[in-house]
Amino acid sequence: MNLTENLRSGYIQEDVEQYVYDLLPKRDAVLAEMEDYAAQHDVPIIGPAVARLLALLVETSRAQRIFEMGSAIGYSTIWLARAAGPKAQVFYTDGNPENARRAEAYFRKAGVAKRIRMQTGNALDLVKKAPGRFDLIFNDVDKHQYPDALRAALPKLKRGGLFVTDNTLWNGRAARPAAADDKSTPGIQEFNRLSFGSKDLFSVLLPLRDGVTVSRKR
Ligand SMILES: C[S@@+](CC[C@H](N)C(=O)[O-])C[C@H]1O[C@@H](n2cnc3c(N)ncnc32)[C@H](O)[C@@H]1O
Repeated sequence: MNLTENLRSGYIQEDVEQYVYDLLPKRDAVLAEMEDYAAQHDVPIIGPAVARLLALLVETSRAQRIFEMGSAIGYSTIWLARAAGPKAQVFYTDGNPENARRAEAYFRKAGVAKRIRMQTGNALDLVKKAPGRFDLIFNDVDKHQYPDALRAALPKLKRGGLFVTDNTLWNGRAARPAAADDKSTPGIQEFNRLSFGSKDLFSVLLPLRDGVTVSRKR
């Protein structure tokens, strides 16, 4: 497949990264359309390699109540909803109503609209207010908010539930000192310290695309 700029890790050798993406089966028409739209309009999406990891985690954990923090045009939401099946409930959240409108149209096209609950606003507030606890929470908000996103979401995750976070290597910048005007890198670095330092979590950082941290709540 054509490895578009928005999917490159920035730290994996180019031929190796291309190899990983060439292994992936083709996506259906809706996901392919979304991937094209994201590449053309510079919308950050997790892309198909990380999406397959999300689907695998949902399927193996049999997650049914799923909360997504930062859903944009709904690409990752569709993968979560399809993996979880028709009885699942997946909470979509994004701060941008324009994203939500586009996402809603894609959900209808993908045939998953009924299992998705859409909310616009600050995902950190929305997760705190959401009813009940979740089997899986996927975190993809602005990177400086990652430590607060973890603090907001953890009480809403059931014991044994998964907290999955994208971009935890941040182009490799997570491993290096941050520039003075960079708020994202310190946010990710603190998040990584919290994920691995917390006695309530068992965490693994997978160097897939931009880095994905999977944490299980003990
Ligand atoms: C990386 S994109 C999400 C991509 C999406 N998860 C996917 O893979 O298809 C991040 C999105 O989170 C939204 N966002 C960032 N911080 C947020 C917050 N605190 N609350 C709600 N949405 C937020 C942005 O508007 C943006 O659309």
